[in-house]
Amino acid sequence: MVVSVFVKEDPIKGMETTFNALQLQQIGGQPQVIAAKRSVETYSLNMQPLLNHLREATAASHDRLDTAFGSLDLSERADYARFLAGHAIGMSALFPAFRTFVERDLGTPCPDYPAMLSSDLATLGIDAGDLPNVAVSDGLTPLATAYVLAGSRLGLAMIRRNGYWGKAQGHPSAYMEDERGQAIWKDVVARLKQSQLTEGDAAPERAGAIAAFDTFSEAFAASAPATAQ
Ligand code: HEM
Repeated sequence: MVVSVFVKEDPIKGMETTFNALQLQQIGGQPQVIAAKRSVETYSLNMQPLLNHLREATAASHDRLDTAFGSLDLSERADYARFLAGHAIGMSALFPAFRTFVERDLGTPCPDYPAMLSSDLATLGIDAGDLPNVAVSDGLTPLATAYVLAGSRLGLAMIRRNGYWGKAQGHPSAYMEDERGQAIWKDVVARLKQSQLTEGDAAPERAGAIAAFDTFSEAFAASAPATAQ
């Protein structure tokens, strides 16, 4: 039996969630919901911080990328090289928009991630200049790109705690060890919390953040042939 209902999930944010494919069971003579599959998330016209919009819009993109990069065994030289190459390819496409936001909007010096990645790859005998380019996905915006790249530093901080081939060999990665992104992340989050937007008004930034994730996904795919031995 398939039933659709609206459930008010978070009255403060005005968030509503559509559940369908409810599983019902007779309990004590009455039909009771025993499971509900969440399939579509919608928002009311209430405004919410841009940060929430971007989180919601990119949750699935992040999961996909987390699974892709997470499939690599960073204690292995080849997988570690692919990890860095994937980041280098994606970074080279996204860095101009990121630097624009960090320097122009935050007024902060921007860490030179492409240079760090080039130096890390050179340690592995890979010339970053030989890596393929991926097209920048349509709709990129500086703010949404800053959200995605500054946010990626959170994942990197977690990943490096588990160790990786370069560090074990006495060559810690400049890119993975750099901690300046954390301050940038805090500034980006502060900005994103300031803007209260409807879903319609947030649409360009939501699309921009998805575009940035898509660019990184293409970079991950392109890194496989680039680092094949
Ligand atoms: C194996 C790969 C990855 C893992 C394991 C991972 C893991 C994580 C974790 C644990 C967080 C939350 C950290 C916290 O709340 O303190 C996070 C946040 C985030 N990551 Fe990743 N990540 C990965 C790859 C990426 C990549 C490649 C990107 C983008 C290019 C990315 C973008 C983000 C963003 C934007 C956030 C912030 C989400 C938010 O709080 O709004 N991640 N990641």
